Amino acid sequence: MTQLKNDLFLRACKKEQIERTPIWIMRQAGRYLPEYRAVRKKYDFLTMCKTPELATQVSLQPIDLIGVDAAIIFSDILVIPEAMGMHLEMHEGKGPVFPSPIREERDLESLNIIDPTVELKYILDAVSLTKQELDGRVPLIGFSGSPWTLLTYMVEGGGSKNFPNVKKMIYNHPKLAHKILDKLSSAIAAYLSAKIEAGVNAIQIFDTWGGILSQDDYLEFSLKYVEKIISEIKRTTEPIIYFPKGVHSKLEEIANCGADVLSLDWTMNLGQVRKLVGDKVALQGNLDPTTLYGSKEIIEERALRTMQAFGNGTGHIFNLGHGILPDINLNNLKYLINFVKENSSQFHK
Ligand code: CP3
Repeated sequence: MTQLKNDLFLRACKKEQIERTPIWIMRQAGRYLPEYRAVRKKYDFLTMCKTPELATQVSLQPIDLIGVDAAIIFSDILVIPEAMGMHLEMHEGKGPVFPSPIREERDLESLNIIDPTVELKYILDAVSLTKQELDGRVPLIGFSGSPWTLLTYMVEGGGSKNFPNVKKMIYNHPKLAHKILDKLSSAIAAYLSAKIEAGVNAIQIFDTWGGILSQDDYLEFSLKYVEKIISEIKRTTEPIIYFPKGVHSKLEEIANCGADVLSLDWTMNLGQVRKLVGDKVALQGNLDPTTLYGSKEIIEERALRTMQAFGNGTGHIFNLGHGILPDINLNNLKYLINFVKENSSQFHK
C-alpha cells in the first residue's frame, strides 16, 4: 500500500494533532473547471461516470489545478437506483430525471437487489485507477446518498420544490416507504463496503434533503437508516462523514449515529455545534458557497470567521456548506484554498 504523503484530512477526521486545517470542496470535480467542461463537451455525464479512465481524469483535476487536501471520486448519488433497475436520464440544465418513478408496492418489486461488484463494478474500477494515479498524494473519498435523499429522487422522478409525492408516501403508505428505505440501506452499505475494499480512505454520506422533514419524521425516515448503514459498513480505520443538509435539530442524536465527522451547511455555527457535540465528532464546513461571488476581502474575512467559529485545536475540515456553484470565479476559489492553507496554523499551536 502506498504511504500517504498528505494525510492532514484523515488526521483531522480522527481529531489527531495537525499542523494546519485541511480543505477540500464539495462538488470539486465539476463544471466550474474549464478542464472539466472540456471533457464534458466530448462525453455525456453518465458516460463519464461509467468510464473509469474519464472518471479518474476528472477526479484528479482539482488535485492538480486547485491543490485541495483530498480527492473525491467522480460519480453521482443516483447510480444506486440506476443499478437497481431504474432508468436514469441527465437533462441539460434541468438535472436528473427518472421517467418511471416509484409510487406503489409493485414498483418496489421491480427494484433489483444489487451486487456492487457486478452492477457498480465501473465505480470500483475508477476507485482503483484513481488511487493508482494519485500515488499517495492525498486521500480519496468515496460517497453515497442517504436512503432518504435517494428516495426523494426515486419517488418524485427528479428534483422537487415541495416533494409532494414522497411526502404522500410517508404519510399514506409509511410501510411501503420503510420497505424501500430498508432495501436501499442494504444496497448502500454493500456499495460503501465495496468502495472501501477498492481503496477509498473515507466515506461521505450526502443527506441533501434531510432538512425537508419535520423533526420526528427526520429521525424515523432518515437518521435511523443512516445509523443502520454506518453500523453495517465493513471498514477498519476509514472515517465516515455525514452531511445532513438543512437539519437544525436532533444534533445530539446525529452526533451519536456512528459517523466520525458531521458536515454542516452554512446556516449553522461551527462553534455552537462544537460546544454541543464536539467531543463526539469532528466538524466539516461550512462557508456559504455564494461567498465565492464576493471580493477577495470578503472571502478572506468570511473564511477567517469560519475558522474562528470552530476555534483552536484539531477536528475541523474546511469546506463549503454545500457544493460549489458552476459559475464562480476560479481565481476566487484558488484564493480561498491558499488563504486557508496559509492562515490556519495559528489554530493548531
Ligand atoms: O464532489 C465531487 O466532485 C464528486 C462528484 C459529485 C457529483 N454529484 C457530480 C455531478 C457528487 C459528490 C455528487 C453528489 C450528488 N448528486 C448529490 C449530493 C450532493 C449535493 O449536491 O447535494 C445530489 C443531490 C446529486 C444529484 C444530482 N446530480 C443533481 C441534482 C444534478 C444536477 C445538478 C447539477 O449540478 O447539474 C446532478 C448532476 C451532476 N453530478 C453533475 C456533476 C458534476 C453535473 C453534470 C454535468 O456535468 O452536466
